[in-house]
Amino acid sequence: MAKRVVLAYSGGLDTSVAVRWMIDELGVEVVCLAVDVGQASDDWDVVKERARAAGAVEAIVVDAREEFAEEFVAPALKANAMYEGRYPLVSALSRPVIVKHLVETARYHGADAVAHGCTGKGNDQVRFEVSTRALAPDLEVIAPVRGWGMTREESILYAYDHQIPIVATKEKVYSIDDNLWGRAIECGEMEDPWAVPPQGVWLLTKPTETEPRDVVIGFEQGTPVSIDGERLGMLEVIERLNAVFGSYGWGRIDMVENRRVGIKSREVYECPAALALIMAHQDLESICLERDLDREKARIEPRYAELIYDGLWFSPLKQALDAFVDSSQEFVTGEVRIRLEPGTATVTGRRSPHSLYDYGLATYDAEDSFRHEDSAGFVRLWGLGIETWAARQGADRIKD
Ligand code: ARG
Repeated sequence: MAKRVVLAYSGGLDTSVAVRWMIDELGVEVVCLAVDVGQASDDWDVVKERARAAGAVEAIVVDAREEFAEEFVAPALKANAMYEGRYPLVSALSRPVIVKHLVETARYHGADAVAHGCTGKGNDQVRFEVSTRALAPDLEVIAPVRGWGMTREESILYAYDHQIPIVATKEKVYSIDDNLWGRAIECGEMEDPWAVPPQGVWLLTKPTETEPRDVVIGFEQGTPVSIDGERLGMLEVIERLNAVFGSYGWGRIDMVENRRVGIKSREVYECPAALALIMAHQDLESICLERDLDREKARIEPRYAELIYDGLWFSPLKQALDAFVDSSQEFVTGEVRIRLEPGTATVTGRRSPHSLYDYGLATYDAEDSFRHEDSAGFVRLWGLGIETWAARQGADRIKD
């Protein structure tokens, strides 16, 4: 049995109740760890106080925003990672960095277990537990919320009975998870996939700007390094693009996705910076990547996204795919211009010192350097097999 546990603490109802519950029911000491990955509105002093009030022997906050941006988001961006073609993996990407800190904290404080506040129906439990087993197979993983069988009302009562200062109302309708890569909103009326998401759920994508504007994003080897010529770190790029693209009411996703545990769930996201960066990066690749490399990369991208979604960030296939993706990014340097208008964002230009776009080859003007006479023989050979097939077998099948 574990004696000391490090809990991934958010300051919300479930993890606050989990502190007291583990102390009382499992007889453990609880160290609370909150990992700052760019959540919107957390006052970390309040979070720490709440952890202590719930009974934690220690309450720690780590600022992991830069690490998250540079070591987790940046590789995913190089791979244009979007689960089921649409979701830029907001929550899925944050779990491995949180687990990394959980494990480090467990080592530092001599804990023999880690804990999380996930339910049994979601993906996040998978990510927490599989990542922990990859990094620290000797640590026990405790999932109190999955096992305690309390309803939301019972949890609130439990908190009151134990003087845990939570801010929860009986009718908390949404389950929200956010970080600098975006915001995920579930539950409430949106559990009906036909229901329009209520206006009140949007926070990052409230339209306030009406004047069209251009934004130029600069990349070096697949990583964003500037906005409108101003050099910025990855974290600043993301923060600024969230603000700018969000202010045009752009960056929303409304989808039904397949969870790892077999459930289809209606998910609503707002990820202005993530969608802007992936759109720009993908566009820049169109001039920087040779055709076969581009196509093969596009083929593995969905698999890469799936690995992250499924909790396999720390896995040999993910590592091998990273090596491929990294190698593909050598020449992905340049700029992409995006035009913002209320509700829309459109790429209107791209340029790169390594561009494979050759004006002489592409133009129909006088500077045309393409050898037109080469085409006749090429096309003849290209069609030779089809011509033979049509003559011997296919003729009557394609006539009508
Ligand atoms: N469906 C998304 C995912 O699996 C978002 C999960 C959000 N988590 C939450 N606790 N609300 O990555």
